[in-house]
Amino acid sequence: MMKILSFVFFAVAVILSIVASPSSSPSSMFNSLVTSSASDNPFFTDDFYRDACPEAETTIRSTVIELFIKDRTIAPALIRLVFHDCFIEGCDGSVLLNATNGEAEKDQIPNQSLKGFDVIEQIKSRIESVCPSIVSCSDILVLAARESVYLSGGPFYPLRTGRRDSLSSFPKTALEDIPAPTDPLDSFLEKFSRRNFSLGETVCLLGAHSNGEVHCNFIKDRFSNFNGTGLPDPTIEQEFLNRTRAKCELDPTAFVDLRNEGAEQPGFGTHYFQGLVQNFGVLPSDQELMNSEKTASWVRAYASNQFLFMNDFSRAMIKLSEIGVLTGPQSGEIRSTCSAINQ
Ligand code: HEM
Ligand SMILES: *[C@@H]1O[C@H](CO)[C@@H](O)[C@H](O)[C@H]1NC(C)=O
Ligand SMILES: *[C@@H]1O[C@H](CO)[C@@H](O)[C@H](O)[C@H]1NC(C)=O
Ligand SMILES: *[C@@H]1O[C@H](CO)[C@@H](O)[C@H](O)[C@H]1NC(C)=O
Ligand SMILES: *[C@@H]1O[C@H](CO)[C@@H](O)[C@H](O)[C@H]1NC(C)=O
Ligand SMILES: *[C@@H]1O[C@H](CO)[C@@H](O)[C@H](O)[C@H]1NC(C)=O
Repeated sequence: MMKILSFVFFAVAVILSIVASPSSSPSSMFNSLVTSSASDNPFFTDDFYRDACPEAETTIRSTVIELFIKDRTIAPALIRLVFHDCFIEGCDGSVLLNATNGEAEKDQIPNQSLKGFDVIEQIKSRIESVCPSIVSCSDILVLAARESVYLSGGPFYPLRTGRRDSLSSFPKTALEDIPAPTDPLDSFLEKFSRRNFSLGETVCLLGAHSNGEVHCNFIKDRFSNFNGTGLPDPTIEQEFLNRTRAKCELDPTAFVDLRNEGAEQPGFGTHYFQGLVQNFGVLPSDQELMNSEKTASWVRAYASNQFLFMNDFSRAMIKLSEIGVLTGPQSGEIRSTCSAINQ
């Protein structure tokens, strides 16, 4: 039954995205979401590629849809990738770079588990064949992540374009600034507040953990040796603890569904927060949101109000996608391959 429901849901999402996706200019419904802060920047606008590469956004959309139909795991992979790009020195495609000497961001965070690079390269090469050296990898990434959110049952949000790509990778910053799943609550909240995300926005963004998977090695301590106590995290729901611990003990390289089990409904957002309320959080950092009233009140709000979540998540993703963008002919470059700076 769940399988059928989730297939219907998926089919509807795909059809909606083909039939009803907003055309390149955002419809009036979305206008209210566009903040005005950077609108005076002529190099960072709605549909920046309108004249130079009108096919850009539709090519990104159709490629993501095509690849998603074959493999739905590309959606969470791209959503995670945009977070890791934008959080470190802004949305500049730096996470996409391969190491040239030593290590790159992608080698650091955390232990090479990022995915989706091949998807970005595929989109890039299709776009290069229609309009070479016009569309940046950083724009491709934020736009592909937006399509992924929508295909996963999340909201569709407008994005300005005109980002340019970095000339280097920032492995050291990535190591220090990407929150670890074992970070104490105040420590990861601080990493978000340094990037100007409020408590509510931070809690909301973690709704991205509605889908995807986590390697057992990130969570196994929570199930057997929490915080050095030799015992499981006392807050974990018992049956869930038993099941997950058994799975990870059997095969420490296995994956566990990131999506919390507490709620029955498939979908994006609300069920994740309902799971946290019922102590079904998978990542220790996720479950920690319930350990303080200042974040728990937001978790409960999003658990009970899908509309509030969708709206706030749109705003938070727009904000994430605009951190530290490089714009204008003087900054960065338009890479011709996303994994290397131009020669
Ligand atoms: C406190 C902040 C965060 C921590 C500690 C954290 C940690 C993690 C960890 C450990 C994984 C599993 C990786 C693996 O095993 O390969 C993961 C997956 C994921 N994260 Fe986060 N994350 C955080 C915030 C975010 C944010 C803000 C987003 C996006 C807006 C995000 C999106 C994702 C997605 C979509 C996945 C699933 C990836 C996949 O299945 O391919 N995360 N995260
Ligand atoms: C990452 O790699 C380091 C060194 O190889 C290792 O000590 C650490 O446990 C690994 N972390 C994860 C989460 O796999
Ligand atoms: C921080 O966020 C607030 C509200 O979202 C916004 O008004 C302000 O301009 C932002 N500041 C910076 C430095 O981004
Ligand atoms: C973990 O243990 C340390 C000291 O043993 C303690 O200060 C800290 O609060 C504990 N963290 C959690 C999440 O229980
Ligand atoms: C979980 O496992 C323990 C033993 O490992 C057992 O005593 C307990 O009854 C189990 N709980 C549930 C809810 O399955
Ligand atoms: C970057 O690394 C990937 C994976 O190893 C490889 O497929 C790709 O060709 C590399 N890019 C360049 C420009 O060498």
